[in-house]
Amino acid sequence: MADKDGLKVAKDYHVGEAFANQGDFQVKGANGLDWGMKHRLSKIFDPKTGKTVMFAFDHGYFMGSTAGLERLDLTVPKLMPYVDVLMCTRGALRTCIPASNRCGVALRTSSGSSMLDDDLSHEVVAVDIEDAIRLNVDCMAVQTFIGADGQLESLDNLSQVINAGMQYGIPTLGVVAVGKNMERTDKYFKLATRIVAEMGAQIVKTYNCEHFDEIVAACPVPIVVAGGKKLPEDEALTLAYDVIRQGAAGVDMGRNIFQSEHPVEMAQAVRKVVHEGFTDKEAYQFYQELIH
Ligand code: 5RP
Repeated sequence: MADKDGLKVAKDYHVGEAFANQGDFQVKGANGLDWGMKHRLSKIFDPKTGKTVMFAFDHGYFMGSTAGLERLDLTVPKLMPYVDVLMCTRGALRTCIPASNRCGVALRTSSGSSMLDDDLSHEVVAVDIEDAIRLNVDCMAVQTFIGADGQLESLDNLSQVINAGMQYGIPTLGVVAVGKNMERTDKYFKLATRIVAEMGAQIVKTYNCEHFDEIVAACPVPIVVAGGKKLPEDEALTLAYDVIRQGAAGVDMGRNIFQSEHPVEMAQAVRKVVHEGFTDKEAYQFYQELIH
């Protein structure tokens, strides 16, 4: 392992310079992957725009019943026409989601903590690869806790899932978690996103922060951005606009869609930003027109 003393600060990100190994495939860092993996990635990232609107409703895996998600069977189907990917647990998928839909599926495969724990950073791999295949999912999501108590086990979980996914052509989405001792700084996210990508995850999920464009530039796979806690709709659209403008390949938004007073209209407005180049203001105006 390299000596930690005397490290130079990374600074040459070449922001704005296109990724050099893009080839002719729309997903960053995926040009050298096998056909099956690319086909699944194409269910996630629209081949026309290279971007994705993922709808996260996996909160129950550690939060239990969550405001806005009390009835998955009623809430989620209404949103499916407006999102590209459903991010959820296998329990939610099998019980509440009709299989007659064309959305991609990002399956939550790690779990092990609950809101009752002080330290949420301890998880295990909770889904066998065989069940992910049976569900025909398009990627498998694993939580990582860089810098937290559960760092080692979470990177072990991530490796196990990536190894199984490589065997069967299923991409892995490495989620960079934030927690008590993990600062939401670009320094932290540069460390964590790059570790997750270099471990072999084909997609990284993280949060917005200062110098987000440098995080994108330094990460050799697509970054999708978590929505985080519920914001007023105009601010949530600004968050989406800011990260897309700085190179995010999409959003993976939960509460800012399902806790909106108008979730279906909000999903449509987010879609305008991600896929159609709307500014935050244009998208908010579109949202206002839809709800009135
Ligand atoms: C937790 C997750 C969840 O899917 C995510 O937090 C849900 O989205 P949101 O924060 O937008 O409600 O990955 O780390």
